[in-house]
Amino acid sequence: MSIKRRLLYAATALSVGAISSLSQANEPIQPIEPVKEVNVALAELGKKLYFDPRLSKSGFISCNSCHNLSMGGTDNLKTSIGHNWQQGPINSPTVLNSSLNLAQFWDGRAADLKEQAGGPIANPGEMAFTHTLAVDLLKSIPGYVHEFRLTFGNDEINIDQVTDAIAEFEKTLVTPDSPFDQWLLGDEDALTADELAGYKLFKDSGCVACHNGEAVGGSSFQKMGVVEPYQTNNEVEGRVAVTGVDADRFMFKVPTLRNVELTYPYFHDGEAQTLTEAVDIMGRLQLGRQFTDGENAQIVAFLKSLTGQQPSFQLPILPPSSENTPPPQPFE
Ligand code: HEC
Ligand code: HEC
Repeated sequence: MSIKRRLLYAATALSVGAISSLSQANEPIQPIEPVKEVNVALAELGKKLYFDPRLSKSGFISCNSCHNLSMGGTDNLKTSIGHNWQQGPINSPTVLNSSLNLAQFWDGRAADLKEQAGGPIANPGEMAFTHTLAVDLLKSIPGYVHEFRLTFGNDEINIDQVTDAIAEFEKTLVTPDSPFDQWLLGDEDALTADELAGYKLFKDSGCVACHNGEAVGGSSFQKMGVVEPYQTNNEVEGRVAVTGVDADRFMFKVPTLRNVELTYPYFHDGEAQTLTEAVDIMGRLQLGRQFTDGENAQIVAFLKSLTGQQPSFQLPILPPSSENTPPPQPFE
């Protein structure tokens, strides 16, 4: 290529880039940003705690049991299984991109990841431990004592540090670089014609009113069953449990649709097995719109283009228990 050709080429590439970043600015969905500021030592400790089943009474259930990072950060069950094989009340949402949520849990009862992380350890239906027992357990493991000292610069171990570390690890669980994000960033060929048509339907029929922003959800509480009521045998009632306000009955945090291809089954009760079913229900109940099979398939194709790069890291090797570590109680 001659220098002149090369300059021309560069200029064209530049202006194409400028046009597509302009159109991207007008889209209701923004690309997932790779995580920027992380305290690496804190996140590494948090990763260990996330995978450590000794934070549960049974010694068997870790955060990863119900938010399996090999399965989109979920358990792929209708509702989760807790201590003693208890049937959980609600579907386990993904931890992927959960740092982008306006609040945590389906009803938003925890303000952020740090507040959330203390919940499951002490929940009798989940890990069935207590914060005191969890901290005592960590103090009995020399490898943890050493790592907490290195990370926090003191000889304390407390639940505040535990939840800080887990939350810092969770901050790293973002999934950038999905085909849809590549398209948003200007790669015209990143989406198929069906995926693009699905995105257009998603915008034009009004899904974006609730599913928008970086996480394609997670930014508001909305009623499940706007046009037509949602029928379910599940007893959970949503945000009313937090606010006590009757108008908040059946209001749920709008779930993120990032990686939704991996996070089946769907809805707070896990009653929709497939994306086809979830899209059909959303169309009818939220928008009063019956999609044809072809339209539904296009929307599903678009939703699958939201699967991003999954977190990839070495599986943490946990420090061994010592003679002073209380034994697990899996059958009590
Ligand atoms: C027994 C299964 C189970 C275990 C163990 C568990 N979780 Fe969860 N998690 C759930 C369920 C179910 C919910 C939804 C509860 C609700 O909204 O009422 C949830 C919600 C969350 C959320 C909120 C996500 C969102 O979009 O609102 C985060 C974050 C989370 N868990 C992280 C963790 C961490 C960290 C641990 C370990 C300390 C953990 N979970 C242990 C089942 C589990
Ligand atoms: C009025 C707000 C609103 C609109 C409009 C809306 N949704 Fe939803 N969406 C929600 C809420 C709230 C939930 C969670 C409901 C529940 O679990 O009970 C949800 C859940 C979902 C889920 C399941 C996600 C999961 O992880 O469980 C999918 C898929 C989905 N919506 C797709 C769509 C599509 C496609 C459209 C357009 C046809 C749409 N939504 C329109 C609010 C909305």
